[in-house]
Amino acid sequence: MANVFATIGNWVNERAPGLMPVYRKHMTEYYAPKNFNFWYYFGVLAIVVLVNQILTGIFLTMNYKPSAAEAFASVEYIMRDVEWGWLIRYMHSTGASLFFVVIYLHMFRGLMYGSFKKPRELVWLLGMLIFLVLMAEAFMGYVLPWGNMSFWGAKVIISLFGTIPYIGDSLVEWIMGDYLPADATLNRFFALHVIALPLVLLLLVVLHIFALHEVGSNNPDGVEIKKGPKGNRWSPDKPADGIPFHPYYTVHDIVGVGFFLLIAAFIIFYAPTFGGWFLEHDNFLPANNLATPTHIKPVWYFTPFYAILRMVPSFFGTAIWGVLAMFGAIVLLFLLPWIDAGKVKSVRYRGLGFKVALGLFALSFIMLAAVGAGVTAELIPEWFGADADATFIENLFGRIWTAVYFGFFVFLWFYSRGMEKTKPVPERVTMHE
Ligand code: HEM
Repeated sequence: MANVFATIGNWVNERAPGLMPVYRKHMTEYYAPKNFNFWYYFGVLAIVVLVNQILTGIFLTMNYKPSAAEAFASVEYIMRDVEWGWLIRYMHSTGASLFFVVIYLHMFRGLMYGSFKKPRELVWLLGMLIFLVLMAEAFMGYVLPWGNMSFWGAKVIISLFGTIPYIGDSLVEWIMGDYLPADATLNRFFALHVIALPLVLLLLVVLHIFALHEVGSNNPDGVEIKKGPKGNRWSPDKPADGIPFHPYYTVHDIVGVGFFLLIAAFIIFYAPTFGGWFLEHDNFLPANNLATPTHIKPVWYFTPFYAILRMVPSFFGTAIWGVLAMFGAIVLLFLLPWIDAGKVKSVRYRGLGFKVALGLFALSFIMLAAVGAGVTAELIPEWFGADADATFIENLFGRIWTAVYFGFFVFLWFYSRGMEKTKPVPERVTMHE
């Protein structure tokens, strides 16, 4: 067998000698820091989920009908009549939620270890672009089953563009291709969801990884292994603290991927709707422009941003401030490499202020997710009694956490410019056996 591979390899090499160096650069001669921890699984897991979404998406497309008259029934047909259709659909819908779980943890790792800082700003910016495209991709995918929440979600989100002065109303009509989310909307969202955005995503992911491999991976100590001592058992001039990505990390990643697939399988087989969090109850009813769901809310992964949108009140007769705040929440993440001027990368050696601020920032994200998902609205009557002013309490709570979210960036700007007392960073990476 090894002989067959060697023969094929030689045959390809003779005809395309440029391929092997690319493989070496990104696999066998990519020296990754030897101290990666749990948090470094999420990059590879994001690739696994992306591949899952593309493969299951192809099979869904074979039986899905992108028309307002047929979409809902075609999804039910996939669930009931297509062989293994239920599995393919649940793999895709669960995959969408797990994609965001993985991405949020992947981004949080970047925040903890300062992976967005010099020289990895481009890796971070490409990551943020991926995040934006992923949100558009998920939103459009959610519209496709043409359930009642698909319809109303599309209406609410597209209508946000209506708050833009002068061009808002025409823009909304242009995006929908009608006066309501309708056949034209569904058709164009289908085209964008199945081909345009996945292509962009794939391209961005390739650029993201290439950009990373130019500068090399960061690690939990935030120490640049390229600046440390040279010479390891594979090469005298490569970083002493680096090990070849293949086979060391490819084998190591199998453990993370294995665990992840077990968790994914458990959800797919035993709790595919995840209690209404991954597939919402209102979306099991067909789209109806005369029946508004009692609570219109997006899927959980959008709820932190949705809460910010709702918590910012209208001023001067326009609701654009909420929309600006929601987009601002994402723009600030883009700007993080320039907001945080701290030289020390890893949270391990940063000042207490950073640790507390990062903890509060993560908590604000979770609290805002709860507000946006309607969890607080449900709990307030239980905690404060049925007569309590639920709107007042919810707004107060939501606005405090919105302030914490934005406060993180303001604090970081000042804190990292002279106020921070950091710990000494070790010369080389540390290993915790
Ligand atoms: C489809 C989505 C994505 C995929 C497939 C992906 C893939 C990867 C992979 C394979 C790595 C190297 C392994 C690792 O460090 O975990 C990586 C590193 C990184 N990614 Fe992503 N990523 C995605 C989205 C994002 C997003 C949304 C961000 C943040 C805005 C981001 C920021 C980073 C950073 C800063 C690194 C370098 C980390 C370090 O060296 O410490 N990525 N990504």
